[in-house]
Amino acid sequence: MSTTAPPARRKDLLDIESLTREEIVFLLDTARPFKDLFDRSVKKVPALRGKTVLNLFFEPSTRTRASFEIAAKRLSADVTNLAITQSSVTKGESILDTVDTMQSMKVDYMVVRHAAAGVPAFIARHTPAAVINAGDGNHAHPTQALLDAFTMREAVGELAGRRILLVGDLLHSRVFRSVSTVARKLDMEVGIFAPTTLIPSGRPDYMQAFNTFNEALEWSPDFVYLLRLQRERQAAHFFPSLREYHHVFGLTRERFLECRRRGIRIMHPGPVNRGVELVDEVLTYEHCLINRQVENGIAARMAVLYWLQPAVTPLPDEKEEVAS
Ligand code: CP
Repeated sequence: MSTTAPPARRKDLLDIESLTREEIVFLLDTARPFKDLFDRSVKKVPALRGKTVLNLFFEPSTRTRASFEIAAKRLSADVTNLAITQSSVTKGESILDTVDTMQSMKVDYMVVRHAAAGVPAFIARHTPAAVINAGDGNHAHPTQALLDAFTMREAVGELAGRRILLVGDLLHSRVFRSVSTVARKLDMEVGIFAPTTLIPSGRPDYMQAFNTFNEALEWSPDFVYLLRLQRERQAAHFFPSLREYHHVFGLTRERFLECRRRGIRIMHPGPVNRGVELVDEVLTYEHCLINRQVENGIAARMAVLYWLQPAVTPLPDEKEEVAS
């Protein structure tokens, strides 16, 4: 565990913006010994014994949902995955009624993913359970940013002054918003390269924009972070074709060889669109961190669950213990 005094615990984790640098560093430091557990034959600690974690995913997920479930179980919590498509939500039950119903079952943590920005924050205001945003619309994906910062630190050590280049669909990407914010808070330099139609308006001044992939690589980034093309969120045509996108914004074989020559680390939040964001060859590159990001997601989420503090009313026997 970290040797510095831990920051005061929060009830919810809704975005990176509201975390201080100290809180981020604390979470990254806390994730480290949790990762060390993974090489042991018994990968569990009793930190959340007796607590219940509810996964409430209104949108599909492979990595985040499985990662939270494994993280909670490694902390000895009980985990329930509410299958939304088989729940009473399909009969018209509102989000709040669903949350109230689950709260009646004394859930301590709710991990929420939803297609609409703001739903986890809305739920957090209505439940004493600790709420973790597992991705809301194009707003935020804070645990993705934490696991990415952990992975970058693991790869190169101190991140201040290091450079990250974010490439692709910035407009629809909650990962872009959270990763660029965590990078900024850790004093990294942030570059972007994207179709002009996929750059959000009002981007902060600290982001350096490039006109070509080659120009961006000349900037000598330590990390090239490829964002998934969010085809399910695109209501309009933002570029002529996938082939065209790959040709201009993808990590083609030629650009990959240039990254390899420079020893640049490659990252992607997954799921990958092969042949669009990158060529297959990247996935077996020694400095491709994509599988490491997935592995580290468990440690980062363990740190978050360990740190947050639900405002759940104590049970009668706990009240007595507190009173005595
Ligand atoms: N990176 C990420 O959020 O992946 P999933 O959609 O599979 O959870």
